[in-house]
Amino acid sequence: MLIAQISDLHLRAGGALTFERFDTADALGRAIDHINNLDPLPDVTLATGDLTDDGRPEEYQALRAALDRLRMPAYVIPGNHDDRDNLRQAFADRGYLPADGEFLHYTVETWPLRLIGLDTVIPGEIGGGLCSERLAWLVARLAEQPDRPTLIFMHHPPFPTGIRYMDAPPLEGAAELEALIRRHAQVRQIVCGHIHRTIAVNWAGTVAAVGPSPVFQMNLALAPGGRFKPVAEVCAIALYLWENGIGPIAHTSIVREQPARAVKAAVPA
Ligand SMILES: [Fe+2]
Ligand SMILES: [Fe+2]
Repeated sequence: MLIAQISDLHLRAGGALTFERFDTADALGRAIDHINNLDPLPDVTLATGDLTDDGRPEEYQALRAALDRLRMPAYVIPGNHDDRDNLRQAFADRGYLPADGEFLHYTVETWPLRLIGLDTVIPGEIGGGLCSERLAWLVARLAEQPDRPTLIFMHHPPFPTGIRYMDAPPLEGAAELEALIRRHAQVRQIVCGHIHRTIAVNWAGTVAAVGPSPVFQMNLALAPGGRFKPVAEVCAIALYLWENGIGPIAHTSIVREQPARAVKAAVPA
């Protein structure tokens, strides 16, 4: 089983640029082409939040059109830039998002590795959280199949990343989630977004990771006092290979070295 992860697409409609230089629609189109041309073709693509930049209906229409070009099923979860109602509406006919209730969480039972999508959004906040209702939902899901290898995907990482300007505020409910995951050895991998970088850590007795953005990265600010800066580092996706009960084995697949507009800007006139 091969899983592709695309995260933090920050898609804008109508050709608008993000930070006045990142063409999000062009970057997403390239990422879709990249995934469709991988050999072997991934079985599934997970889109781990900040799918749109402003959560507008027209952005979700563009997102849906782009994801519909994928040659395999795709599953979406929201990030802090998303709007639950507009996201739910755009993907309602896909049948996996819950039709009722506040939160966009669900399980995917199709493949040998069970997939659980979590909704960490707190509307109006940059930081995320898992409230008692969401944690109780996860407790029930993990209890259903305690022996089945499981991958959890969520937007906000539940662990500190060392990128100081992104570590505050921490995920609400992180301590409860850590205790829960420690009790459930079937959770082989946690996959997150939000930080726009490739990060991996041993956390709660499992492997937790953040996947890169195919659109723009955040600067690697490990020193105290570091501030956010979007950077034109490589645009990439993450791949997770689950084979003969080993893994998931994490890889980074580079879509392109630098966004074309940034390359253009670097060439002297
Ligand atoms: Fe993001
Ligand atoms: Fe985010």
